[in-house]
Formats: sequence, C-alpha cells, structure tokens
Amino acid sequence: MSAPLTVVVLAAGKGTRMRSGLPKVLHRVAGRPMIGHVLAAAAALEPVRTVVVLAPGMTEVEAELARSALAPAVAIQEPALGTGHALMAARERLAPEGRVLVLYGDTPLVTALTLRRLLVAVEEAGAAVGVLGMRPPDTTGYGRLAFGSQGLDAIVEERHADEALRRDGLCNAGIMVIDRARLGPLLDALEPKQPKNEYYLTDIVEHARTFGWRCTAIEGPWLEGVGVNSQAQLADAEALLQGRLRQAAMELGATLVAPETVFFSCDTVLAPGVEVGPYVVFGRDVEIAAGAQILSFCHLEGVRIGPGARIGPFARLRPGADIGEGARIGNFVEVKNARFEAGAKANHLSYIGDARVGARANIGAGTITCNYDGFGKHRTDLGERVFIGSNTSLVAPVTIGDGAIIGAGSTIDRDVPPDSLSIGRARQTDFPDGAARFRARRSRGST
Ligand code: UD1
Ligand code: CA
Repeated sequence: MSAPLTVVVLAAGKGTRMRSGLPKVLHRVAGRPMIGHVLAAAAALEPVRTVVVLAPGMTEVEAELARSALAPAVAIQEPALGTGHALMAARERLAPEGRVLVLYGDTPLVTALTLRRLLVAVEEAGAAVGVLGMRPPDTTGYGRLAFGSQGLDAIVEERHADEALRRDGLCNAGIMVIDRARLGPLLDALEPKQPKNEYYLTDIVEHARTFGWRCTAIEGPWLEGVGVNSQAQLADAEALLQGRLRQAAMELGATLVAPETVFFSCDTVLAPGVEVGPYVVFGRDVEIAAGAQILSFCHLEGVRIGPGARIGPFARLRPGADIGEGARIGNFVEVKNARFEAGAKANHLSYIGDARVGARANIGAGTITCNYDGFGKHRTDLGERVFIGSNTSLVAPVTIGDGAIIGAGSTIDRDVPPDSLSIGRARQTDFPDGAARFRARRSRGST
C-alpha cells in the first residue's frame, strides 16, 4: 500500500445496550478485550498513526491501549453525538495525507486480510470512500448499502431503509476507508439526524456522491463484520471466533477429539501433534509443545507445557506453571507458579504452588505445598528424584535435597538433606485386642 495510512478506532460509545457498567470495547472475546482484537488487525497494516476515540474518563480503556504495539493516540469525544461526530473528534490527529481507515471498537472479528482488500479496492477505484459490506444471517441493526450506476450511492441506516433495501441490501460492516484529501469537506457536510440527533458517519457516502466523488464497496466474510451491541451478540461473536480458532488449531496439526467443546484464547499456541481431549479451556498465554496430551476437563492459563507431557484429566494449571518434557500432572492437581522438570510427576489430588519439582521426582496423592502463611508466599524446592509420600504437607520455605524420600502423612517444615528418609508424623500406637474390648464394652452398655 503506497499511501500512508491512519487508523481511527471509534470507541467512545457507552455501550448502554450491554447493561454491564464496563465500557463496551473492554468486553472480552477469546480472552482479549474487543478493542485489542481491532488494534491487532490494524497493526498488521503498519499504519503511520493510530487514533482511538474515547469518551472522557475511560481510563480502563486507556490502560488496555497501552498494551498495543501501535501506541495509539487518544482523542476525546464529548458529548457522544454519533459515529460521524466521533471521527470529527479525531480530525486534528490524522496524518495530513494518504488514507484514513475507520474501524469500530465493537467489531472484533475483522482481519487484516479483508482490510487490505478494501484498501486495494479504494486505490484501484480512486474512490473518496470505500466501505466493507457483508451479508450476515441476522441483519438486525446494520445499515444497508445502496448502489447506483456509479457504484456505491449511500449507506442507509436500518430505521431509514425501505422494505426492499432492508431485505436485499448488503449490510454495512462499519469499516470504512476515506481519502484523507477529501475527508475535510465530507465531515463538514455532516448534519445531525433524527431521531437521536446524531451525526452519522455513514452519511459521508451520500455527500461524496453530491460532490461527484466515486465511492466503492466490497463484500467481505460476514463473520468479520459482526458487531457487538448486546450480551447476546457478544456470546455470538465468541462462538464465531472459537470456531475460527478451532479450525486454525486443527489446520496447524493439533488433534481435537471434540473441537466444539474446546475453548481457546486468541493467543493459544499448540505445536503440531498436540492432542486435546474433550472439554478443555485455554485461558490467555498458553503454549504447548509437540506431542503433549491434554486430557479431558482441564483448565490452563499462563502455562508452558513441554514436549510429550501429559496433563489431566481434571487438572488446573494456573499462571507460571511450567511443565517440562514428559512430566505428568494428573487428576485434581492444581499447579501455580511452579516448574516441573523433565519426567516429574504429580498424578493425584495435589496443590503445588511457588515450587520447583526436580527431574523425575514423584509427588504422592494429597501432597500440598503450604506456600502462604497469611502474609507472604514462600517457595518449596524439591530436588531430583525426590519421592514425596502421600498426604504430605510441605511447609514453605522448605528445600528437599536430591533423592530424598518423605514418608506418607508427613508435615515437613525443616529442610531435608539429599538422600535422607524423613518422616514427620505422630508415631503409631497399637493396643492389642483393643477393638474387641471396645466393642464388648459398648454392646454391654447398650443392653
Ligand atoms: C453502526 C453503523 C451501521 C453499521 C454498524 C456496524 C452508523 C451511524 N451506523 O451502527 O451502519 O451497520 O455500525 O456494526 O455509523 N461511537 C463513538 N461515538 C459515538 C457513537 C459511537 O465513538 O458518538 C463508537 C462506538 O463506541 C462503537 C462504534 O462507534 O464502537 C459504533 O457505534 P454503534 O452505536 O455501535 O453503531 P451501530 O448502531 O452499531
Ligand atoms: Ca455497533
């Protein structure tokens, strides 16, 4: 693309139809706020400048913007008088030439590929305005594109569209490219429209035609134009994106036994040959190496899994879990901020937090790292080939040396040297015939 590109993301709307109190564009899809998705698609186009239009006091949104590689500038729109008015608020921050790509913060499924197609179409047509059209299965709430002999003539909001246009018209995805040189007069021509007294950005198409300027539109995959105005539409967008992520994972060589039951984040990375069982949820920041198996009903977030490791069924891996090659994490095991070195195992009913588990160590059922004393978190360090008997409490900070064995039922609150056999529990007491005498006493007493 030769002409310099400015991206403007409109996100000042309060999102009242969401009824949640959270700014609309912060609602998450596949683990990432909607505006994060929009900025990620924009970033791939390498714009010279990016501007996000916000309402005053949207500090949480600004914090999210700080995470984008684009480092967008913020323009404040006050009061919010419609999408046209929002672009006016960004006017002074646009690059002086080239093209302006307007994206809506509530249209999270758009891809850079489609945006590029639109930019090329505008360039080829020498158009003042280019619009992304689509045909979604449910057209409610979308503007419609009206075409004439010269190309695109107008975008008509649904409430103003006649029956035929409403039924047959391409829908406006809310994505628009405008020639920077002709943007000024187009914005100047906007006037507030009833019933809400708002400036519609979509009206610039009609104004461009009045000036005798060409406008164009392309049809994109409807999925990419899905706009989120309500919680139900948020759930729809989530389902659509999950479908796309499952497809992509399988295309890259992951085996999903029941894809419709696996939930990804936008940043989940599965190497070829990973196997994922039914009902697995991937939170943000999970990376899984080749040949690892994630069995059914696992929840993972902020986790690295090494080659050939086996996780689950029913495991919960929390941020900072780092599972080495061939390690095993079994049912009802919770791991947080802990490194399992190659071949280490915790197969049943354990909590391992703030720890290192040495290579080939074996953690028995019911082992707990007592990492929190009510004030701070403390570390547990288990050496190589350590064997921890079942139902052991490891009171951190504590270090168990290489090759040590801990007897079942122990509470370990002192460091254990390498190759030690350590047992920390009350001694067993046996009363010969005690049970028989006890029963005899009780049955006499009850007659
Ligand atoms: C808009 C389009 C409609 C299109 C649909 C696609 C207009 C007039 N209509 O309708 O043709 O089919 O999107 O999803 O543009 N915003 C501001 N300031 C405002 C108003 C809105 O920044 O004063 C932002 C919102 O935060 C949102 C975006 O602009 O991210 C779109 O606004 P919204 O009210 O959702 O427009 P729609 O009614 O969906
Ligand atoms: Ca919308």
